[in-house]
Amino acid sequence: MGNVVIVGSQWGDEGKGKITDMISKKTDVVVRYQGGNNAGHTVVVEEKEFKLHLIPSGILYEDTTCVIANGVVVDPAVLLEEIESLIDRDVGVNDFHISSNAHVIMPYHRELDQLEEVRKGNGKIGTTGRGIGPVYMDKIGRFGIKMGDLLNEEVLREKLEATLELKNSILTEIYDADDFDIDELVDEYLEYGRQLQDYITDTSYLINQAMEQGDNVLFEGAQGTLLDIDHGTYPYVTSSNPTAGGACIGAGVGPTKIDSVLGIVKAYTTRVGAGPFPTELTGKAGEVIRNQGKEFGTTTGRPRRCGWLDATVVRYAARVNGLTSLAVTKLDVLDGLETIKVCTGYEYKGEVLKEFPTDQRVLAECEPIYEEFAGWDEDTSKVREYDNLPENAKAYLDRLSELVGVKISILSIGPKRAETIIIDKFVD
Ligand code: IMP
Repeated sequence: MGNVVIVGSQWGDEGKGKITDMISKKTDVVVRYQGGNNAGHTVVVEEKEFKLHLIPSGILYEDTTCVIANGVVVDPAVLLEEIESLIDRDVGVNDFHISSNAHVIMPYHRELDQLEEVRKGNGKIGTTGRGIGPVYMDKIGRFGIKMGDLLNEEVLREKLEATLELKNSILTEIYDADDFDIDELVDEYLEYGRQLQDYITDTSYLINQAMEQGDNVLFEGAQGTLLDIDHGTYPYVTSSNPTAGGACIGAGVGPTKIDSVLGIVKAYTTRVGAGPFPTELTGKAGEVIRNQGKEFGTTTGRPRRCGWLDATVVRYAARVNGLTSLAVTKLDVLDGLETIKVCTGYEYKGEVLKEFPTDQRVLAECEPIYEEFAGWDEDTSKVREYDNLPENAKAYLDRLSELVGVKISILSIGPKRAETIIIDKFVD
């Protein structure tokens, strides 16, 4: 199978967790390369549901090495809780590694994230409030605290001294909020370091060594293409690079080491948080999809905005990620709908746009151009062979693949591992 990057092709929540879990079985190493506990994956194994925010879902396989690489931002308290809950449910967390270069989410990052959203008022992004933006700001601003720093009191204190004064001034003088005490922070974070020290290492070296000895590596992207800080619907994005290129930077591997890029596409579209969404269904139809698809955030519980599949978005994702194949998820959610629509382009001020616009103000004024498909009544979650799918479902999928210009290799028709159809031998 080689080394594969898995990316979300829409606004996140495409069902990457399940596909990652499935491919992890055939993989030696699974790597998270960006984002933090703003992400959430739900994996169902033998009727047990696992909700993971930081640790790659590959952890559920005994022989898979799991890595949180340098591009990830880590909230150590959340990570420790996740480790404990896995151990409590008899999942071993032994072959698990965290990059010493991964940046640490501090309490002032969480606080500033939430205060900043309130300050923005109507212009808020709708962040998860986990401190993601502020921690990446510190990383780029060269104020960041890394996982490796939690292992050395002198370094941690020195770094906090350099940054905390400014953070406290912002908190108290601009936001009229409480400040943080350096001694308390040092004690708390050194304790996290003590508890996590056996996991902290040079993960770029580890991953490259694994590749050298012929292991297959899976790079698991969180969020989705349109939430990418560079290629997404800025400013309504997250603060990292979920796109495939982010895997190289975020894991410390060269682009020549990546063999394929699998784009996960939900059979319709969802979005959490603010920002333009041309195919959004605000009425009853959106509600039907939300309820059938259980479209409520794994991390925040927020109801997701739902809409028709936008092939313009997925074609754009194919371009910026260099997708080599698609995994289509949640097709079963569309079972029973009389008609289904797919957006093939936009109308903007009387002009037809075939490419996804880079300017958010343009996107906000785009009207979707739809192709309409007849639905199907059959329960697709019971189907195990592509040929046995309803003809109308096949027509829908074939057209999607044609519009995007990328073949479909996997189809998911339910949350369970068995509810999957392998269309080509991608995972063998
Ligand atoms: P942040 O990543 O918490 O800063 O949030 C920025 C934007 O990304 C908001 O619109 C969030 O709703 C969205 N977002 C962050 N993580 C996810 C995710 O895992 N799935 C879907 N949307 C997300």
